[in-house]
Amino acid sequence: MGYQHGDEPPCNSSANRTFYEVMEARVARRQFLMGGLATLATGLIGGGLAAKPAQAQDAAPSLLGFKSVPVGFEDRVVVPEGYRFQVLAPTGTPISGDMPAPRPGANTGAEQEHQTGQHHDGMHFFPIDGSSADGLLVVNHEYIEPRFLHAEKPAYKGQSFNAYGVAFDAEGRRDDDEVRMEIAAHGVSIYRTSRQGDGSWSVVADPRNRRITAATPVEIGGPVRGAAHVRTMFSPDGLRARGTLNNCSHGVTPWNTYLAAEENWAGYFSNTDAEHPREHARYGVPRSARGGRFAWHLARSGADEYVRFDASARAASAVEDYRNEPNTMGWMVEIDPFDPTATPIKRTHLGRFGHEGVVFAPAVPGQPVVCYSGDDARFEYIYRFVSDEAFAPGQTDGGILDRGTLYVARFNDDGGGEWLALAPGRNGLTPANGFADLADILVNTRLAADHVGATKMDRPEWGAVDPKTGAVYFTLTNNTLRTQAQVDAVNPRAANNFGQIVRWTYAGGDHTAGSFSWDLFVIAGDARNSVVANGATLNNDNIFACPDGLWFDAQSRLWIQTDMGDLGPAYEGPLKPFGMNGLLAADPATGEIKRFMTGPWGQECTGVVGTPDGRTLFVNFQHPGAHATAAQFAAGDYGSGFPDYNGGPPRSATVVITKIDGGVIGS
Ligand code: FEO
Ligand code: CA
Ligand code: CA
Ligand code: CA
Repeated sequence: MGYQHGDEPPCNSSANRTFYEVMEARVARRQFLMGGLATLATGLIGGGLAAKPAQAQDAAPSLLGFKSVPVGFEDRVVVPEGYRFQVLAPTGTPISGDMPAPRPGANTGAEQEHQTGQHHDGMHFFPIDGSSADGLLVVNHEYIEPRFLHAEKPAYKGQSFNAYGVAFDAEGRRDDDEVRMEIAAHGVSIYRTSRQGDGSWSVVADPRNRRITAATPVEIGGPVRGAAHVRTMFSPDGLRARGTLNNCSHGVTPWNTYLAAEENWAGYFSNTDAEHPREHARYGVPRSARGGRFAWHLARSGADEYVRFDASARAASAVEDYRNEPNTMGWMVEIDPFDPTATPIKRTHLGRFGHEGVVFAPAVPGQPVVCYSGDDARFEYIYRFVSDEAFAPGQTDGGILDRGTLYVARFNDDGGGEWLALAPGRNGLTPANGFADLADILVNTRLAADHVGATKMDRPEWGAVDPKTGAVYFTLTNNTLRTQAQVDAVNPRAANNFGQIVRWTYAGGDHTAGSFSWDLFVIAGDARNSVVANGATLNNDNIFACPDGLWFDAQSRLWIQTDMGDLGPAYEGPLKPFGMNGLLAADPATGEIKRFMTGPWGQECTGVVGTPDGRTLFVNFQHPGAHATAAQFAAGDYGSGFPDYNGGPPRSATVVITKIDGGVIGS
């Protein structure tokens, strides 16, 4: 499968034009080859922002008032002068139940069900009563590194395990409690956090604190609710399912609920049938008996909650086995953080794919609700949902996401683009072409997008909407599989190691419009391999690669996080000049970019979000130490000490950043 730091296996075999191919028509390849990126800058980059450099020359103070930090190569967190940080709620922090104490590397499944999970990713701070000092932090736990969860257990300590390795017994089965623990280390944590008198932030016991895991009962909402595709032994009527998996980024609805994205879920299953249904094949459900990830279906007891990850046809009908279990994953899952009794709901009209996250356009009373979601795999697509009903503050709830139209993006040669509807009878999505009805289209969203001729992109990650301009930004993190024949000028690299950020706007700012105008905000890389919309190249203060997390603060600072993979101090390769993953800030109007923070060894930097007053920033460092080899692990070298630096296993954690003078972060 070739999994790497949470990315998806390539499995789009359709013949649609790639984003590179589309862009080729806008600038001759010859021009790129002769002139390099500087030529591109004048030809294409910032096509919608030609006047912007002038803004950088006027007397307005910079939006970015801090001094850039250097590229980081150490096993620590570095923030700018005048800033400080603290660690909050690393893996295993008790938040609910009897608050079981953290025992890094030794906690049980039952304990983990009341502790923060592993591999923190997207998150949001929900203020309590509007406070910027007291709120519910909702945090995704994307996946796990079993060797660190179990580092102190006999089957692991001193043994050779790489980042994905798990222990099997002599009969090839897994320990039940390890599996229970791993399932519980996935999902979402909801906990109250507040600023204390000394300025530090703490986890606070609260009845709203809860864990949602890969085993929590959920409802299936929207057009797929009750469809044949999702009927299982657990829910023969197709109304319910269990858990959420691989929650990467997230979204926040205009009615103040949280959406967790299901990204790289396919590898959690095994299907050993000779023939795979298309709803497995197009998403890369593994054919191996072991499955692609942690072999939960091989738990020794054979209990139902583990066997469900075996998606082979093992019985006479779909309601007697779990052949349809993979169809219950790949959705956006709505969670109400303020109601601990609320059952999470899979909002199926937002489509089924490798959802990175979702971002909403500013909601306008009386107008439809619009949101955008990227499918983070090589050569996959960017989607938009437009509701049928109008937004009514105080009345609208998640049900509005169950009725509307899903679209997929086509980026045209001339800097324009269209949204192509994925709906019955539209764009050839008919029974005659293999799409029986809306539920069938949604379960097979990727195939529907193939069919309508969407543009294949370079791994779409997070999106963000500029509060000042309404422009939509999306990171395209990298695509090492793109060939020279697929290269064009605006995506100017075969084997694209560094990634870029695309953005688009609408005439009149109407996010429901059928067409849009787009350009590139930045092509990432080092000084020789980069260009920003203002025509500058990146320099020592801001070189970066593999943009992933993206978030606008209230003052329109664009925060950019990097995920170059599991880089450690011994890494040698094209990403070496960029050091460790970190966080940058950009002014979208001027193109100014500065490096704000760098992190420890092995991690990716993700989950950036601030308090409403802009004076506290929360950021996650995910999978510190992931670069450690199996031999290192066996020798007790866990790759990184973050955040405890006491010889125990490294832990993913949130860091809380404040300005020492109490000012707005980034100002
Ligand atoms: Fe989980 Fe696409 O990063
Ligand atoms: Ca990740
Ligand atoms: Ca990501
Ligand atoms: Ca990523």
